[in-house]
Amino acid sequence: MNRREFLKLAAFTAANFVLIPVQHTLAKETDSMSIHIAAKVGEVAERVLLPGDPVRAKNIAENFLTDVHQYTAVRNILGFTGKYKGVPVSVQATGMGIPSISIYLHELIESYGAKKLIRVGTCGGMNENIRLRDVLIAQGSSTDSSIVHQVFGGGVNFSLLADFDLLRTAVNVAESLKLPVKVGNVICTDLFYNDYDDVNGTFGDGKRTFNDKLRKHGILAVEMESAALYLHAAAANVQALAIFTVSDDLWRGERCTTEERQSSFNDMIKIALETVIQ
Ligand code: HPA
Repeated sequence: MNRREFLKLAAFTAANFVLIPVQHTLAKETDSMSIHIAAKVGEVAERVLLPGDPVRAKNIAENFLTDVHQYTAVRNILGFTGKYKGVPVSVQATGMGIPSISIYLHELIESYGAKKLIRVGTCGGMNENIRLRDVLIAQGSSTDSSIVHQVFGGGVNFSLLADFDLLRTAVNVAESLKLPVKVGNVICTDLFYNDYDDVNGTFGDGKRTFNDKLRKHGILAVEMESAALYLHAAAANVQALAIFTVSDDLWRGERCTTEERQSSFNDMIKIALETVIQ
């Protein structure tokens, strides 16, 4: 080996000795601290409640859990871990809509090992049988979002479903607490403010709107996150359920007061907590 070859080999060896540990350390760091939650592994429980609103996450943690520890405030999207009846439970705010909740779902599942995820949110009742403050459970989630197509292409209209065991438990829990719930299909939409004409053409008498079609097909309510929850859970083979309190009535054009929202929200939280610890 001449001097030049020796120097080349020496440089290569040194680079690898230096680089390998650096890469290893970096990999370890990224494993333990996700970008948007940035908690340490072990700080987030396997059982997680998912409200959209960070203030609600704080209220749930303060009013329902013991031994509470706040593990994140990145972007003011708060996350807490505490205990419910002795079982570790986290409450992670998700923000609104599919893109935002998808970030938190990915990190909760992939970085922190979340296994049972229950969304606790609000929805707009679409059907005349649905009233303000009703508690609904999404057995299925239909969506106008492109997320299913992004995963499966146009060929498969993948059914976005609640985990059956969680659904059955939640219904049993609600019955035993004497809290009425309605179970069915919801529409998970990307647009909260949507009073545009029906772009997909007309229905029946030629005057029906998109919402009329959804109603006709039994959709109970509109909300903005359940499709992402059910899709991510299916992909990762973890359990997920979406429970809602009706805060708006799109059929009658009514809306809950803040106090009404709060008291009925508590029924939903009780059902979710009793379900998630099973
Ligand atoms: N649309 C979408 N999401 C909602 C609504 C609504 O009317 N109410 C509560 N979440």
